[in-house]
Amino acid sequence: MADKSQRSDVTLDTIVSLCKRRGIIFPGSEIYGGLQGTFDYGPVGAELKRNVKDAWWRAMVQERFDIEGVDSCLLLHPSVWEASGHVENFTDPLCDSLGPSRKRYRDDHIEDTECTLYRTVDVTDEEPKAIEGGEIWAPTKKKAKEFYQTWWEKHLGLEGRRVKLEEVEGSTTVGRFSPDDGGKLTAARMFNLMLSTTVGPVEDSSARVYLRPETAQGIFINYESARATARRKLPFGLAQQGKSFRNEITPRNFIFRTREFEQMEMEFFCKPAEYCQDGEQTDMEWFDFWRNERLEWYVRYGIRRENLKFYDHPKEKLSHYSRGTTDIEYLYPIGWQELEGVAHRGVFDLTQHMEHSGRDLRYFDPQVEKHYLPCVIEPAAGTDRAVLAFLCDAYREEVVRRADEGKGGKESKRVVLGLHKDLAPIKAAVLPLLQNRPDLVEMARKIATDLKRFTNAVYDDTGAIGKLYRRQDEIGTPYCITVDVDSLEDHAVTVRDRDTMEQERIPADKIAGWIRNNLAG
Ligand code: GAP
Repeated sequence: MADKSQRSDVTLDTIVSLCKRRGIIFPGSEIYGGLQGTFDYGPVGAELKRNVKDAWWRAMVQERFDIEGVDSCLLLHPSVWEASGHVENFTDPLCDSLGPSRKRYRDDHIEDTECTLYRTVDVTDEEPKAIEGGEIWAPTKKKAKEFYQTWWEKHLGLEGRRVKLEEVEGSTTVGRFSPDDGGKLTAARMFNLMLSTTVGPVEDSSARVYLRPETAQGIFINYESARATARRKLPFGLAQQGKSFRNEITPRNFIFRTREFEQMEMEFFCKPAEYCQDGEQTDMEWFDFWRNERLEWYVRYGIRRENLKFYDHPKEKLSHYSRGTTDIEYLYPIGWQELEGVAHRGVFDLTQHMEHSGRDLRYFDPQVEKHYLPCVIEPAAGTDRAVLAFLCDAYREEVVRRADEGKGGKESKRVVLGLHKDLAPIKAAVLPLLQNRPDLVEMARKIATDLKRFTNAVYDDTGAIGKLYRRQDEIGTPYCITVDVDSLEDHAVTVRDRDTMEQERIPADKIAGWIRNNLAG
């Protein structure tokens, strides 16, 4: 049974509003009314996303001896997607409402519901008249009225008329109805999720190419060149980060499901069990290794372990290429959902590309003196889903006494993003206590300039100190440095810790070293 746990500490709306308020993430093309399924990262969000990608790259490429990075194109030869099975299989079932909204749904997201038929009756004149085409299916009369007011009134052209909704006796039935307008739903049809464009000046079908729906295939088609030039033996991996595009039928839940998003994928090529020598890890052992390794990566960067779990796909529901798939799920405010997938892809992809391209992609194993195709283990993470998980897990609201901020007495609420220091968009903010003292401003600016040489620091004098602290807390800045009048005398500054709000006096000429050590610690 699906785990329907919910979080009570944070809602998606809270995160959406924080993101908008603090320049983390905005709806895409907002000044033109928005483009569904797209989101833009603002100044703070761009840093956060970059840090998430850097942390992944560090763990998956730079800290390891057995993984290389690649960076392939978004546009690949159309045959790639024939070979990978995306042209044939990368589809979702789609259905439409026959009601006035004409809304589209993922058919597999629709649950059968018990509904009753309500007919629309015009009661303006003495003789009540049932309106043709005004039949609405709804679970309750209240819901039917809601549907009527939102969609049906306009559609039936009855503005200004008095109408009532009448239950049709004995009509209650269990079936597939639109949850938005109570219309019946069409039968499901398959819909390919790849977005396409044309290359070159002639827009005919021969010029059609797809925007990649995953970064993985860009790795497979470079497998042999990368292996040979990096002089790699099995096992080894190739990693890639970048944009992917999917024409999702129902993009929703903020950056959780969008039409343009980023992925961080690694294909790990290893020996099938039958070719392993004593002491060598088999393909299934690598599968296990990568499941655990990837979950631990989220913990390392601050996600609470209790908010992460594995979901093993049942054998009968595996994708066409998979010998085993485990999702790493995160307890988002919308419930447990896939954050990353780890799949055992067997030899599927290389077999397909070998057949379709005519290139020999087999590996020559000198130990067994045989040519064979390696197995592939793939941890595939969504960058935006990771950003959302880090934001949700770091978010907290606290009641603090303003005495902690040096203002005495009163209680107030503060919002803090307790992000891991490596992920924090800004590492230190330098704040002069008085903006109208040129000597103080100069000292603060010099400190910020020194910090900027090795980290992302800012200078901010656009408000009172309490307000500036709040702003930095809300975007997760680990350290605020205040420069006050005493600083001019004692050549020291105050550092405030984001989490404890404790303050420490540090000599100004030692502050850069202090920040560097504490960020590394
Ligand atoms: N190469 C395998 C692959 O692409 P996937 O499960 O379809 O597997 C991997 O995608 C990850 O990409 C998902 O776990 C999710 O984090 C992210 N992802 C997939 N579709 C997405 C979408 N429409 N919006 C945001 N992230 C998405």
